[in-house]
This record gives sequence, C-alpha cells and structure tokens, in this order.
Amino acid sequence: MCGIVGYIGPRDATPIILNGLKRLEYRGYDSAGVAVLQEGSIKVRREAGKLERLLALVDEDPISGHLGIGHTRWATHGEPNARNAHPHMGATGEVVLVHNGIVENFLELREELVAEGVEFKSDTDTEVIVHLVEKHLATGIPLEEAARAALSHLQGHHGVVMVSSKEPDKIVAARIGNAGGVAIGFGQDEMFVASDIPAILEHTREVVFLESRQMAVVTRAGLKLETLEGEKIEYTPDIISWDPVAAEKGEYRHFMQKEIHEQIRSLTDTIAGRVDFEEGRIRLPQLNLTADFAKKIDRIIIIACGTAAYAGMVGKVLIEKIARIPVEVDIASEFRYRDPIITPNTVVLAISQSGETADTLAAMAEGKARGATVWSIVNVIGSQAMRISDGYISMQSGPEIGVASTKAYTAPLVDQYMLAILLADLRGTLPEAERKALVAELARVPDLAGQVLAREPEVVKVAEALKDITHCLYLGRGVNMPTAYEGALKLKEISYIHAEGYPGGEMKHGPIALFDESMPVIIIAPRDPWVDKMVSQIEQSKARRSPVVAIATEGDSVIAGLADHVMYVPETPWMLSPIITVIPLQLLAYHIAVLRGLDVDQPRNLAKSVTVE
Ligand code: AGP
Repeated sequence: MCGIVGYIGPRDATPIILNGLKRLEYRGYDSAGVAVLQEGSIKVRREAGKLERLLALVDEDPISGHLGIGHTRWATHGEPNARNAHPHMGATGEVVLVHNGIVENFLELREELVAEGVEFKSDTDTEVIVHLVEKHLATGIPLEEAARAALSHLQGHHGVVMVSSKEPDKIVAARIGNAGGVAIGFGQDEMFVASDIPAILEHTREVVFLESRQMAVVTRAGLKLETLEGEKIEYTPDIISWDPVAAEKGEYRHFMQKEIHEQIRSLTDTIAGRVDFEEGRIRLPQLNLTADFAKKIDRIIIIACGTAAYAGMVGKVLIEKIARIPVEVDIASEFRYRDPIITPNTVVLAISQSGETADTLAAMAEGKARGATVWSIVNVIGSQAMRISDGYISMQSGPEIGVASTKAYTAPLVDQYMLAILLADLRGTLPEAERKALVAELARVPDLAGQVLAREPEVVKVAEALKDITHCLYLGRGVNMPTAYEGALKLKEISYIHAEGYPGGEMKHGPIALFDESMPVIIIAPRDPWVDKMVSQIEQSKARRSPVVAIATEGDSVIAGLADHVMYVPETPWMLSPIITVIPLQLLAYHIAVLRGLDVDQPRNLAKSVTVE
C-alpha cells in the first residue's frame, strides 16, 4: 500500500515530508514524489525506485515552502516510473494530489475526461481524480467542495490528499472505504497529514484518524472534520503511545500476521475493477487476450516456485473445471530442463509475487523461446516477470514484507478463478446463468476471509497444543490438495518443524506407516465434493492413534466428534474454498513459530525473493 505525508506550517515542508516518507519505506514502494508550494506555484519532484533517488533529485534541484504533500507509490496501474509517480497535477498546475487505493471505474472516467479534451500525462488511475477536482474547481467552488464533488464519481476504496496554489492556506484530505488510513496530526501552529503514524510520530502524538466517507480541511490553525455529505463532525484527538518501530506493524507483532489479516483488503483489491457484477463478466485488460486467441488455446502450463506453485495447482482445478482447457502445473526449475512440448496455442502462465524469481524467469524464457504465449500473475508491477510477459494479471495485493507468502497465495487463487471465467466466456463454453453465478460468488470472498480470521483465538489454542511437535502431515484432496502442500510449507519455513503435504488418497500407498501417537495429521475437510473421503481419512488416522487436527465447515458435527482439534471455516463454494481453508493454516504456522520464539518475518536461510538459481 502507498505512503502519504502532508505538512502545513511555518517550517520548510520538504524535509518534513521526505523524512516522513522515509519512515514509511517499510510499506514497500517502487517510486516516490513530493510537491511543495513555492512562491505561489506548485513545484513537483518525482522519481522511480527507492527514496534515495528522490532525495538526490531534490538535492540537485531543491524545492521549499510551507505547504506540501509527498507519496511513496506501490504500482497497481501503470509502471513504477517518474511519469506515474505521485503527486499528480491536472492541466492547470494549480492542484496537486496523492492517492492510496484503486479507482475501480477509472477506465470509463478516463474516457469521459478524454472526450472532454483532457490530456492524460500518466497511465495511472489516480490522475482521473485530479482532473475531476480541477473540472469542479473551474465552477468557482472552494477546493474542499471540488474534492467532494470529484470523489462522488469514484468507485472503490480511496485515501486522497490534495493542495491548491490558489488556496495556499489548506490541505484537503478524504477517505472512502479501507484503502489505507488518513491521519491528521496536530502541532503548534502547524499540522500534519499521513497515511500511517510512523511518518509524523516525531512531530506529534495527537492524531485524528479519518473514517470512511470523511473529509478533513486542515489549516495551520487546526482541523475541520466533515462527512463527505457535508455534515460537521465533532472529534477528540487520540494520543499515540506507540514507539516508531512498533507503529510500522500497526497493532500486529509481525508483518506476517499483519499480511494474513490484510487478506480481507488484498482479496478486495485483487477483485477491484475487474468484475462487472451486473453483466456477470470479468475484465482483465492487461492480459491482452482476444476471443480469437482464447478459442485457440489448447493447453496452459502453469509454472512457478514454492507457494506460487501451490497456487497454480489450485488454478489447474479451476481452469479445467470452468474453462475446460487442459492445464499442467510444473515446478519452474523442472519445466526449463524437461524439453517441454509447446505449440503456438500453448500458454505458459507464470505465477510470482516478486516477479523476480530466477527459476520462474528462466522457465518463462524457455516457454517464450519455444513459441508459447507467456502470461504472468505478479504482485510487483514493473517486475521482470511482468515485463517479459505477453500479458499479465496484477495481484494488486500491496507489498508483502514477510518472507512467508500469505496474501500473495490467496490473491492468485482469485485471479485464476477470474481468468477461468474470462476464458470460458470468450470461448463461449459457459452458459450465461452459470457464468453469472460463478461471478456473483466473488463478492462474498472478502467477508468469508474476515469470518475465518475472526476465529484466530481458536487457532492459537491448537498452536499451543502442537508447538512442541517435531513432524506433521497435512492431507487434502481435490481443490484442497494444494492447501495441504501450502499449509505444510508455511509450517516448515517459519517454525522449522518438518511437515509434509500429501494427497489424502495417497496415505494408504505407504505414508500411513508413519502414523502413530507421535505423528499429528492436519486434515483439510471442508464441506466440498471430497469431504466424505476426508472423514474416512480422519477415522483411519485415529485408528492408528495419530492426533488429528481438522479444518471443517462450521456445524460439521461428524468431524467435531472425530478430530482432536477442529478449526472451523464458513460454508464456502468449493471452488473458492482454498482461499478460506488456507487461512487457519497460515495462522497456525504463525502462532506455532511465535510460541517457539522464532523470527517469523525473516526465517533462517530464506530470502523474500530467490533471485538466484
Ligand atoms: C513462500 O512462503 C516462500 N517465500 C517461497 O516458496 C516463495 O513462494 C517462492 O520463492 C516463489 O516466490 P515468488 O512468488 O516471488 O516467485
């Protein structure tokens, strides 16, 4: 998620903003910028890459003034470069603005503005907002009213902060939905605005947090708080007691826990702007997919590493079930050496959070060299995997700091579900009613994730029971077989307990010899087409005295009567269930590692992105 800092007061805004952005670096970003009102006009400095590049640019070509805003951007629309970096200006140069969130309807807004003669200077969704503000300002209303009017056009979640050279005594900020916070900090004859507390904690601990659909008009004298509908809001500032480092993780102990809980937001964002719930259709414009080519595809080979490969295993089930296209999943480091059979109608689909994993990049190159169409599902916009793809789907999940991947596992599950529906739609192989029903299910995903996250205290109890185990088996079937692999990998990589994921049906072919009271078994058994088989798996495990932890659908009294521990998930359409069943396993691995006193965010021997072979 992006970082925002604003300042108005007697001091020079530039260093205050740049230092504030530095304190937000942990949020992950790929470009940065600052805008300051200097001698009556707005000066902007923006740069791709890390903050030091922006600092060097400002050193070379200084700007200073008493009013300004700054931003660290995590790209979701448009490459991470200076052109797309925030702050963004409109046509007149009088207004400058920074934004967190995704303008879900930015395509149609952009088309309308272009039809009115607006010339866009960036590829971002954000730029439509500043042009809308200018359009309303031109009617002679003040900045806050123009902002209110502009925001009424937007769909999606937003945090927006803007200033105008024509109204140099104020900063206007607003929040819609949960696109990251907007906080107003109180100083002596000076005020601060920030997306996150660490940016302004050295200046003030007196803060008001905007809630959804609230607007702040900030002057040196203080804050005027209103609803977007214009009603005045009384407020009492909070006093922040956090220390700066703790503030980076918010109320969470580790980035991994924060990112597990961010899945409500990241699942919302990966769906954002891609689903027409009215029509029951999916839009993935960056895939550059035509109906003609969709009809020709004869095979999809999904290539990835680690957690991403397990996401691909779920994708295989979804794409084959919905789009009826043959799908193979291959570990990237194997694909590139197996002399793969590729035709001009083969698609190689890479999945990679970082977009920089050496094995995955090499496998993509191999597929390309053999004439395949190469797509990628990536989280880092502008990454190598994205650049070498013929088309891509951005996970839009925000930066993932914890080495153990969590939200970058569930986002590609949704992305592949949407891809499957789009392919079936373009190939004309899915009846409209079925397609609409599949699309409608997407709307429930973030709430289902929220429901299972609310059960975290139950998972903590299971973690306490398992924290001293030395090995463990995870069993799953069908669409949840990969969930077993992923659950085992989470436990392995952060708690250093040996864990294996297995297809449930495979136990009787050897591994059941391992079953005894020292071998706990985690059995993924939500109410899906395979649940009866998994119940018998539980019985077989119990018959050999293995302790059983089950993942079951709320209300499943059969499993409750059999398993030693049950972690419940809400009733979920079976094709979407891996998004939900993995969350208790993420939490279980996290809490066991915490109980074992290990470094959850930076496990030994691991790197966040394996850029070597
Ligand atoms: C997952 O928790 C690990 N961090 C690792 O398996 C990771 O998924 C793998 O290295 C692939 O990374 P990528 O998604 O950035 O390509």
